[in-house]
Amino acid sequence: MSEENVTKNFTIDGVTLRPGTVEDVPAMLRLMDIATAWLVKKGQTGQWGTERHSTNPDRIKQATELAESGGTWIAVDNNYSPPKLGGEDEELSVINGIVGAITLGQANHYVQPATEPELYVKYLASDRASSGKGIGTLLLEKARALAREAGVSLLRLDCYAGGSGGLVRYYESQGFKRMETFEAKGWPGQVLIQRLDKEDEADS
Ligand SMILES: CC(C)(COP(=O)(O)OP(=O)(O)OC[C@H]1O[C@@H](n2cnc3c(N)ncnc32)[C@H](O)[C@@H]1OP(=O)(O)O)[C@@H](O)C(=O)NCCC(=O)NCCS
Repeated sequence: MSEENVTKNFTIDGVTLRPGTVEDVPAMLRLMDIATAWLVKKGQTGQWGTERHSTNPDRIKQATELAESGGTWIAVDNNYSPPKLGGEDEELSVINGIVGAITLGQANHYVQPATEPELYVKYLASDRASSGKGIGTLLLEKARALAREAGVSLLRLDCYAGGSGGLVRYYESQGFKRMETFEAKGWPGQVLIQRLDKEDEADS
């Protein structure tokens, strides 16, 4: 991993992290709706389809479980002022200044179990209007910090491996390494890991 990928003490002006609660479910679903609209515009419908998640009962249940799990962290932009959009655009702007969220917990059932204690990234999304600010970096750095605090040396996740592979490359840019690929009901996935124990080696 190169030096620029080691992002300790990373901060973003005006953006703070707090634990998520079930009240954040609409905001988490909104982030997914925003991301999906962006992916659809780019013609990348393989990851999350084309439909809104906020009205999908399965997605609502899933987001509720994530929020109730205690492993969710919410990124709030304290300087956020809602744009006066109206109509459909308004339905695709963030709720309560919530510009990102991450959920950490146990591995998803469709991937191979880990052979050592781990923290698994089960949900990660940031607002498109905040793209490039490093919201994802901030949330992943929180994950690394929580893992270290818990004495856990392995951070793992899976993501969509189809399309142009942009999401896999994003995680590689965050210092993750590709492990196995898998297919879940025709959906191509990639497992990635990041080791946290050998920080000296990580800098090499
Ligand atoms: C992944 C994510 C949280 C990263 O947030 P971030 O650190 O704020 O980074 P950005 O949004 O600026 O994106 C960084 C790069 O990853 C790319 N990227 C992000 N999500 C992507 C996706 N789902 N598919 C393809 N490329 C993606 C972006 O296009 C961007 O590429 P660029 O640097 O070449 O412009 C955020 O981009 C996001 O919410 N993406 C959509 C939802 C998603 O796929 N979540 C991950 C589920 S495992």
